[in-house]
Amino acid sequence: MASTTTASTAMNGAVAAPVIDIREVSRAYGGEGPPALSGVTLSVRAGEAVSVIGPSGSGKSTLLNLIAGLDRPSSGSVTVDGVRVDELNEAGSARYRRAKVGMVFQFFNLLDDLTVGDNVLLPAQLAGMPGGEARRRAASLLEYLRVDRHTDAYPGRLSGGERQRVAVARALMNRPALLLADEPTGALDTASGDDVRRLLTDLHADGQTIVLVTHDLDLARSCAQRTIELVDGRIIRDVTTDGAGAGGAGGDWGGGPRGGPGRRPGGGAAGVGW
Ligand SMILES: Nc1ncnc2c1ncn2[C@@H]1O[C@H](COP(=O)(O)OP(=O)(O)O)[C@@H](O)[C@H]1O
Ligand SMILES: [Mg+2]
Repeated sequence: MASTTTASTAMNGAVAAPVIDIREVSRAYGGEGPPALSGVTLSVRAGEAVSVIGPSGSGKSTLLNLIAGLDRPSSGSVTVDGVRVDELNEAGSARYRRAKVGMVFQFFNLLDDLTVGDNVLLPAQLAGMPGGEARRRAASLLEYLRVDRHTDAYPGRLSGGERQRVAVARALMNRPALLLADEPTGALDTASGDDVRRLLTDLHADGQTIVLVTHDLDLARSCAQRTIELVDGRIIRDVTTDGAGAGGAGGDWGGGPRGGPGRRPGGGAAGVGW
């Protein structure tokens, strides 16, 4: 049987080209255990938000790391926004991440000896964005994410939810084609989790392409119209709720109306002044 992702990509010629195109990817770490990923084929269109669920050890972080170019597959290809990520060398992969990918992790991964403002500026500086433009963008992101009053503070002074919002600002700084998040609400209390859930949901409604690893079903439900389930390194389920993409056989996640495909912050999306 043809995989649902491949079939839907072929049928949806009128919509945006895939941002992520993963073909027959396996990743074995050696040793006696089974591979972390086996024969994964997956296509994600611009503007889609996909949540990846599955038990611990099922390969979710491995999948995200391969998409981010932080790891290489043992076989298969990973193409993101036209770039063959699996063929990049270390320098190329760092450049690719700066240009195309924003990442958010469970434990924020902010640099503790830089201020909040400097953490957010860093990706732009590394990418060579002119200073004035970078400072304006950092300021508007921090304001949108309601952490602007902490711009000159060090991350250690902030709550978990505030730190995660700063991490999202940093991830968005270079207008990434793709936002990757690995358990972004996993370390947050309920209220902070709600903030981050709303934030990711707004970003998606605004056209940002997102791949999100999460155990948080509220987050999966509110942010993503498509859910992929991994077990033992294989995709065992790929369900889309609004009928617009792969496997659109009416799940019950209840995605709301969406903006047009391909819009994203920086592309004139309504409302948030990117
Ligand atoms: N660097 C590594 N070296 C060896 N095995 C690893 C490494 N990273 C992950 N694994 C193994 O690969 C499998 C998938 O891991 P991971 O992708 O982290 O799962 P998940 O994020 O779903 O919990 C697990 O069995 C894990 O132990
Ligand atoms: Mg993981």
